[in-house]
Amino acid sequence: MARLLCRSDVESLISMRDVVEILDKTYRGMGEGTVINPAKGTLDLGESGPFPPYHADINSMPAYVGWVDTAGIKWAGGWMDNPAQGLPYVSAIIVLVNPRNGIFTGVLDGTHITNMRTGAQTAVALKYLYPERKSVTLGLFGAGVQGRTQTEAIAEVFSIDELRVYDLHPEAAERFRREMEPKITGKITVCARPEEAAVGDAVITVTHAKDGFFRKEWFAPGTVLFPMGSYKECRDEALLSADFIVVDHIAQCLHRGALKELAEAGKITEDSIDATLGELAAGTKKITASPDSRILCIPIGTGAMDVAVASVVLHRAEERNIDQCFDFAL
Ligand SMILES: NC(=O)c1ccc[n+]([C@@H]2O[C@H](COP(=O)([O-])OP(=O)(O)OC[C@H]3O[C@@H](n4cnc5c(N)ncnc54)[C@H](O)[C@@H]3O)[C@@H](O)[C@H]2O)c1
Repeated sequence: MARLLCRSDVESLISMRDVVEILDKTYRGMGEGTVINPAKGTLDLGESGPFPPYHADINSMPAYVGWVDTAGIKWAGGWMDNPAQGLPYVSAIIVLVNPRNGIFTGVLDGTHITNMRTGAQTAVALKYLYPERKSVTLGLFGAGVQGRTQTEAIAEVFSIDELRVYDLHPEAAERFRREMEPKITGKITVCARPEEAAVGDAVITVTHAKDGFFRKEWFAPGTVLFPMGSYKECRDEALLSADFIVVDHIAQCLHRGALKELAEAGKITEDSIDATLGELAAGTKKITASPDSRILCIPIGTGAMDVAVASVVLHRAEERNIDQCFDFAL
């Protein structure tokens, strides 16, 4: 029997603190070789061309995660026209399976898990990159759903002394400030110009941009830059000025997101990647950065993180007898 869990079930069963811990263990598993995570496959629904005309793409993201002994797949996409219609940009579902016998054990809303784990990816990466630090300052581009979970997750690991935010829509940045300021230690400043937000120990871009708005001169020494959006937020010169490059999944990062065009042009290859988050988590590699280093960190998002979080959620649902079940085999 597969347990069916809707978004409110998922929300009641997992906190951001849990997700940060789950990701930490799962990155370690990636580094130790107990996670299997093929690169995601993309179904283009008009995201990069005129047909079909839905301005969307949807990814299949299968994984097996050893520490929860669970296999699964997330089917998740982004619909560009949704926010204007009051619908969330991200839509996702996760299907879990018992790896011993192929019995489906759970079908879960994947949107909340996607949002939480996307924030937690950055928080856990920062923990590996700033192991001595207790507090950080942040610059944030994009005051949307992911901008909020980035902030919440980092606030679980560090105290945030200051956050500077820029959004194409100033009213979105102002809403973000009102909502998120009570959740962090420091002050949130809404920036009128984008370069004013490119300041902090970590600078995060989490927008729908495809035009490479982030300039080389904004990537200051001593910064970790996280291009988290799915397309092209940073100019090539900005990306190429990094002293170190850290990613979550090499093959995937060379075929999608920030590094795609540079990889296609042969300007970034597998050899350009200094470490994966899995290697940092498992301690098999270290980044020996100086205070002036520019570090580019790209957690493009892996199915393993979704499967691990979903597996913990499912386990808790079983314990608490949340038992809307469906037998697909009848
Ligand atoms: N890396 C990952 O694992 C991962 C996971 C989920 C989503 N994403 C990506 O994150 C991005 C944001 O998703 P979301 O759910 O927060 O969307 P959202 O619609 O909730 O928010 C996006 C915000 O970015 C703003 N924006 C757009 N272009 C901008 C620009 N050039 N400068 C500043 N602000 C700009 C918009 O006004 C909006 O407020 C998408 O590209 C999505 O695909 C990545």
